[in-house]
Amino acid sequence: MKKLIAANWKMNKTVPEAVSAAKELKLLIKNSKNAEVAVCPPFTALEAVGKELEKTKIKLGAQNMHFEDSGAYTGDISPLMLKGIGCEYVILGHSERREFFKEDDVLINKKVMSALKNKLTPILCVGETLEQRSSSKAREVIDKQLRNCLDKVNAKQMQNVVIAYEPVWAISRGISNTKPATKEDAEEMHKFIREFLGNIFDSATAKNARIIYGGSVKPENAEELLSMPNINGALVGNASLNAKSFAEIVKAAEN
Ligand code: PGA
Repeated sequence: MKKLIAANWKMNKTVPEAVSAAKELKLLIKNSKNAEVAVCPPFTALEAVGKELEKTKIKLGAQNMHFEDSGAYTGDISPLMLKGIGCEYVILGHSERREFFKEDDVLINKKVMSALKNKLTPILCVGETLEQRSSSKAREVIDKQLRNCLDKVNAKQMQNVVIAYEPVWAISRGISNTKPATKEDAEEMHKFIREFLGNIFDSATAKNARIIYGGSVKPENAEELLSMPNINGALVGNASLNAKSFAEIVKAAEN
């Protein structure tokens, strides 16, 4: 399976900045064959970045969405709107949405179902906090998040869901010296997630599931993380803001 390297630009880049980053990126990775690449700009820049990436293999993704197709939801964006401007991916349940906007598993599950209905591929984020990890609750937390967020998803639909394991304690929040999970710790959790999928779906679904890692992925650590058998890609925040760093991470996924 091709590794998926997705850029999460979070609340960064005006439209001209986003377009210029996309321009730079498409030149830097034009020869990439063995990795799938997606960029997730803020809503305001989606259309312009999408136009810039037309006729390239780089896919477009959003960072969030409402679960309804339309309606009286001031300030929100619907799956139809995202689909209409060429999005293929949508990040759902990111820990920053969970923490700052109080999104819970029930809401995230509605979004997952809605994304699938609208033929968008959800990148469903799960991850434990440092406190939960220190009290040996990491597995329990991930089990619960997955069970709730994937409620009513069937095995066929699961082929179109990406799971992003993002330990909250490893996410850089823009601070460049935050440490990622070690490759062993990340691999252990990815293996656990794959086993979980095997239990609630079946072994073929688990084997084919794309489970990507997020949390301080940088050019310096990408290769070792991506070399682990159960790590099928990366969701990259801070290091994706710079096209050159992001392109280096894509290169690491090619090997
Ligand atoms: P980071 O963010 O790479 O800056 O740690 C990852 C994410 O939050 O998706």
